[in-house]
Amino acid sequence: MIFTTISYDGAPNAAPIGLHMKDEKIFARIYNSKSLDNIVAKKKAAANIIYDPFLFVESALSDIQPDNFEHGGRFPVLKEAMGWIIFDCRVRKGETISFVELSPVEAQIKHRQMKPINRGFNAVIEATVEATRYVVLKDTKYLDRIEYYDTIVRKCGGLREKEAMKLLFELIGK
Ligand SMILES: Cc1cc2nc3c(=O)[nH]c(=O)nc-3n(C[C@H](O)[C@H](O)[C@H](O)COP(=O)(O)O)c2cc1C
Repeated sequence: MIFTTISYDGAPNAAPIGLHMKDEKIFARIYNSKSLDNIVAKKKAAANIIYDPFLFVESALSDIQPDNFEHGGRFPVLKEAMGWIIFDCRVRKGETISFVELSPVEAQIKHRQMKPINRGFNAVIEATVEATRYVVLKDTKYLDRIEYYDTIVRKCGGLREKEAMKLLFELIGK
């Protein structure tokens, strides 16, 4: 998912965050970040279902362009989303990671599109996870993993996946 949030002064933000479900409860585990600050400030977030690999890379490693957001509803969501869920959030703050319980208040399915599995797309997602670790921890083991995922993208990815990897390398300075 890509979570959209808003800061105390109304600036929208987007970042990939995992959704979890256990015992009928939906929650996220969020490290200290802009997304967490925004959720603490506004007690709301939207989870956007996105199929564009480029947007995953861009939102994970930089600020996305404001024209990616749609403000028609009660909360900013991503224009490109196949669907979204807006949540009320209850935060249990931790030192480095916080537990955020999510209660759905509104949802929309915008497009129903079949998406066959593509190893290239999946490899971009995995490479992006490693890239978010690399920028914080600077351990070269993450770079090795990114290089490995890049070989899969080159073999199996389409144009958008290749553009996404190009952006990823630019944003991590490699
Ligand atoms: C696929 C994917 C899933 C992620 N899931 C989480 C997550 O569940 N919790 C988290 O804190 N960060 C997660 N991240 C990392 C954040 O997206 C990343 O730290 C981002 O820079 C936070 O941006 P922000 O400061 O704009 O909120 C994930 C990244 C990717 C690519």
